[in-house]
Order: sequence, then structure tokens, then C-alpha cells
Amino acid sequence: MTARTTAAEERRPLRIGFIGSGFIAHFHLKSLTGVRNVEVVGVYSPTPEKRAAFAASVAELDLGECTAHESLEALLADDRLDAVWILSPNHTRLETMEMIAAQVKAGRSGITAVACEKPLARTVAEARRMLALVEEAGLNHGYLENQLFSTAVVRGKEIIWRRAVPNSGRPYLARAAEEHSGPHEPWFWRGDMQGGGVLLDMMCHSVEVGRFMLTRPGAARDTLRFKSASATVATLKWAQPKYAADLKARMGGGVDYTKRPAEDFARGLLTFVDEDGQEVIVEATTSWAYVGPGLRIVIELLGPEYALEFSTLNTGLKVFMSREVTGDQGEDLVEKQNAEQGLMPVLEDEAGVYGYTDANRHMIECFRAGRTPMETFADGVAVIEMLMALYKSAEEGRVIEMADTDLTDYRPAVSRPQD
Ligand SMILES: NC(=O)c1ccc[n+]([C@@H]2O[C@H](COP(=O)([O-])OP(=O)(O)OC[C@H]3O[C@@H](n4cnc5c(N)ncnc54)[C@H](O)[C@@H]3O)[C@@H](O)[C@H]2O)c1
Repeated sequence: MTARTTAAEERRPLRIGFIGSGFIAHFHLKSLTGVRNVEVVGVYSPTPEKRAAFAASVAELDLGECTAHESLEALLADDRLDAVWILSPNHTRLETMEMIAAQVKAGRSGITAVACEKPLARTVAEARRMLALVEEAGLNHGYLENQLFSTAVVRGKEIIWRRAVPNSGRPYLARAAEEHSGPHEPWFWRGDMQGGGVLLDMMCHSVEVGRFMLTRPGAARDTLRFKSASATVATLKWAQPKYAADLKARMGGGVDYTKRPAEDFARGLLTFVDEDGQEVIVEATTSWAYVGPGLRIVIELLGPEYALEFSTLNTGLKVFMSREVTGDQGEDLVEKQNAEQGLMPVLEDEAGVYGYTDANRHMIECFRAGRTPMETFADGVAVIEMLMALYKSAEEGRVIEMADTDLTDYRPAVSRPQD
């Protein structure tokens, strides 16, 4: 690999490659139509048809000349590439990062940065390894927690901390929920592959957006010291015989919730202590057992004289369609849509509201300029620590005090090998 000038040196668009070409890769791609200074020049995923279809979508959106590579090594060796976005399933995270670090260290890849989807890993040990690998390879890194960049979260946090906090005090309670009717691919449902159930899959968003809202603007996230965690998990819907059979029929024999369920509901309470010794709380709930119009994200921030609330289903735009209006099922109104008739909420810019557009804009500009993003793999590690503490609390039926707990080798019961 010959030395080449970087995007930062040339002030040219960042040229990125996607690892994975599934659901979230297409969401990210769509969001990039609202981002400057980026070109998508490569993709790798194992299925030739899917990566070719992804490259065709890049061309259609005029987002770059995208080569569909038949291996991760080939993608990484593409000498146009500045950075990669890791968007493959959770069980492939660590092997993907091991490969990236090895290729960069051996001089077989000229990339300078990596962005990674949630969750950063499935256990604290894996998450710390992800961070160590990216640092050892000398790469800039960003953790793609989209909710921190949600337009409502950014605007709401700014108003509360600028207007309300100076004369009445800091917020003390963040509530966050993310719920839908269940994931789209079999691997999400399998604790051995995904790493957990809904707590790992979706509470990763809620704990981090809660922590973010409670953190003073501009302050490091660890200015809030994580003190304790308590949680409850349950399988409310998908182990019921009727629904377990439905799941097996749709997801295949590897997903049998009568024999190997994972939790489809979780609630968690995290306590933190701020720089002045004041206790603040994140209360999070999540489920794969919510059958409403579609994905529901609810965020609240409460303080002594104020409250903020946001729900992705309280949309300004709603459409009504009578029973005479029939057609194909789809997700064209909202993500994880459950109906096509009646009064339906519509998000006219899902990529913006959920935060993908601004997350990508932030990462791309940081990577172009060689700046550290405001959300890095270190935050991804902290998220996994919070989630593992919650799992351990639910498993042991007690409050986990972080001062006397080592979570390094802890893994949720649903992810452990079974006889
Ligand atoms: N931010 C969010 O709200 C959000 C939403 C959905 C998914 N995600 C995360 O994004 C990741 C992908 O989820 P998804 O919904 O797109 O899943 P998916 O199953 O729809 O797509 C996964 C893609 O990765 C490919 N793949 C499989 N093994 C691979 C490997 N070893 N190397 C490269 N590619 C490989 C698959 O072929 C597929 O193209 C997961 O980690 C998930 O947790 C985040």
C-alpha cells in the first residue's frame, strides 16, 4: 500500500465502505442523501445478490462509484477507501474488527477511521477488545448511536440546558423507551447469536440517550459516574404457543421460543452520581411485544421546574385510509409498521428524526478533519457495561452496585451455550 493523501489533507469528500448490506445499511445509505462530503465507494457482505443490489442503490442515489467486493479483505484493500461503517450482525462484530485491525497494521489497508453500529459488542470483554483493536490500529472511531443525533433530542437538550437549568437546576430523571413488534431477521431472536434479547438489542439506545440528556452539554459522558443498576426481564408474548409457532414459521427452525426464548420485555433503572455528588436516574423500558402502528421511541427529561417529552408516534403528519383502501403490507409510513388502514402516523423524514442523518454528518466531518467524534467506541463500551449490569440484576434479582462488581466475563443467560 503506497502512502496517499487523506480526505483531511485534500479537503475532499470522505470515501467510505459499508460492511453489511441489510436493513440498517440501506437506512444509512438513504440518510447520506442529506449529508455533504461523502462518497460510498465499496461494500462487502457475503451474499453476492445483496451486495450487488446495494451497489446499484448507491448508483441510483448518485452517492458514488460503489464496488461490490467478494471479501472483506478486498474491500479494505481498495485504495480509494478512507473509512468503513460496520453494519453487519452482532455475532460478526469482533471478527470484522480483528480483520480490519490486522489489515491496517500490516499495511494492506489505508483506512483511517471506523464507525460501528450498535451494540458495539455482546459482552464487556468483547467491547473492550473492540476498543483496544481500533486504538492499536491507530484508527479514529465513532459509535453510531443514532438517538443522540435525533433532531428532537438535540434541540430539546439544547433548550433545557440553556434556558431551564441555569435558574432551576440540572435534570435528575431521564426516561427512555423503545418498542416494536419484533425484529425482522432470525439472528436477532437467537440469544446465542445476537447476545441477548430485547434488552441488548434495543435498551442500548435508551440507556445512552438517557445518559446523554442528563450530561451537561460539552462535558464528557463519564462526568456522570455509573453507580448501580436494577432490572426486570420477561418473555410476555413470544413464548406463548401460538406466537412461538408463528415465529418459528417466519424465522425458521433455529428460532424456537418454546425451547429457547429470550426476553421480549425489559425495564431498567440506572443510577449515576454527577460532579457535585447529586444522584440522577435513567429509567428505561423496551419490548418486542408492542403492537402499535410502528416503532415507538419515547424520551422524557425531568428537572425541578421543567419537563421535556418526545414520541416518534405523535407525528404532525397522519393519514387515514378507509377499509376500502387495500394494498401490499409495507414499512413505507413508519419503521416496523403494523397496519395499512385507519389513522396512521407518518414520519416524513425518518432518517432525520431517528438521528441517522446527523450521526453520519458528524462522523464524516470528524473523520475528514481527524477530530474525535462525540460518541466513540469508549461510549460503546460504557453502554455494554450498563446493559450487562442490568442483565445481571435481572438474573440475580438484586440491585447491582458497580463499586463491587466486575462484569468483564459476564454474559446474559440467554446467550450462554446450552446442552
Ligand atoms: N441503530 C438502529 O436502530 C439499528 C437498527 C437495526 C439494526 N441495527 C444494527 O445494525 C446491525 C445490522 O442489522 P440489520 O438490521 O441490518 O441486519 P440484517 O440481517 O438486515 O443485515 C445484516 C447484513 O450483514 C451481512 N453480513 C452477515 N455476516 C456478515 C459478515 N461476516 N461480514 C459482513 N457482512 C455480513 C448480511 O448479509 C446482511 O447484508 C446489527 O448490529 C444491528 O444491531 C441498528
